[in-house]
Amino acid sequence: MRGLLVVVSLIFICKDVVSGDPGSSNISEPFLLVADFRGEIILQVNITSGSTTTLPLGNVGQPWALDYDPLTDYVYWSDLRNDKIHRARRDGIGRETILDINSVRGLALDHARGDIYWTDFSENTISVAKMDGSSTRTLLTSPAVNSPTDLVLDPRNGLMYWVDDGNDRIDRAAMDGINQTTIITGVSNPKAVTIDYREDRLYYSDQYHRVNSSDLLGNDIQQLLYEDGKYVRGIAVDENYVYWTSSWYDSSRQGNVGKVG
Ligand SMILES: *[C@@H]1O[C@H](CO)[C@@H](O)[C@H](O)[C@H]1NC(C)=O
Ligand SMILES: *[C@@H]1O[C@H](CO)[C@@H](O)[C@H](O)[C@H]1NC(C)=O
Ligand SMILES: *[C@@H]1O[C@H](CO)[C@@H](O)[C@H](O)[C@H]1NC(C)=O
Ligand SMILES: *[C@@H]1O[C@H](CO)[C@@H](O)[C@H](O)[C@H]1NC(C)=O
Repeated sequence: MRGLLVVVSLIFICKDVVSGDPGSSNISEPFLLVADFRGEIILQVNITSGSTTTLPLGNVGQPWALDYDPLTDYVYWSDLRNDKIHRARRDGIGRETILDINSVRGLALDHARGDIYWTDFSENTISVAKMDGSSTRTLLTSPAVNSPTDLVLDPRNGLMYWVDDGNDRIDRAAMDGINQTTIITGVSNPKAVTIDYREDRLYYSDQYHRVNSSDLLGNDIQQLLYEDGKYVRGIAVDENYVYWTSSWYDSSRQGNVGKVG
């Protein structure tokens, strides 16, 4: 059950890497990407051996969320220190800042359209741009969104889901911002949200050390995991496992990556 231990602090798992279509890229083996907020690095984890490599991306700031484009081999990440979104190929080539944002948190790529979505925690907005940072558009504003954090896309169904930290809930809307609906309420200080595209399940974590899942309408809630004393910060799903990153809710903030089959 326990995958591996990384002696780092706040860490997050890339959402789409393990669910991406491997036929669409040159990448033969799935891997996890982990943003280590306190260590200020982005790690690649070999999911077979558990070994980790720090990606040579230069100064990544304080990485909070990340996503990956298998077609170009680029990593995109939000940097809370500088309130920017950067991208670079996994070998560090092509590093550039694509967006300058007031208070960036979550981000997610729409590979088919070549778009990037992100949340702005203090502006209370969800926005979209082309993956190079051009053509920015704000899709949702306050009071529809209140302190949004993590964000995940379901392009098959044209939907996006996000954590509304201000209202302790998980919402969804069409990817153009219309038809907003609250899916799950009463998620105390929600952290991560992701989708298992194979099973059509939503996974999310809360302040009380839990990871629960539900169907895509927020029904049929089941508890997957309870880690006493730890916050689950990131969740990723492949056909065999749910992976998560958690960190102790104490001064050490030591983090680890785990998996459950
Ligand atoms: C991942 O680990 C496995 C098992 O140790 C090894 O066979 C494989 O080559 C590793 N993959 C990469 C990309 O290093
Ligand atoms: C994938 O392989 C093709 C053909 O070998 C090459 O042209 C392309 O640059 C590669 N893409 C990446 C992201 O490595
Ligand atoms: C919005 O909801 C209406 C009514 O359920 C539906 O007909 C329409 O297709 C939805 N639009 C999108 C973009 O999902
Ligand atoms: C998670 O699931 C447990 C067990 O079903 C339930 O008691 C708890 O209220 C759920 N929490 C959330 C935030 O869905």
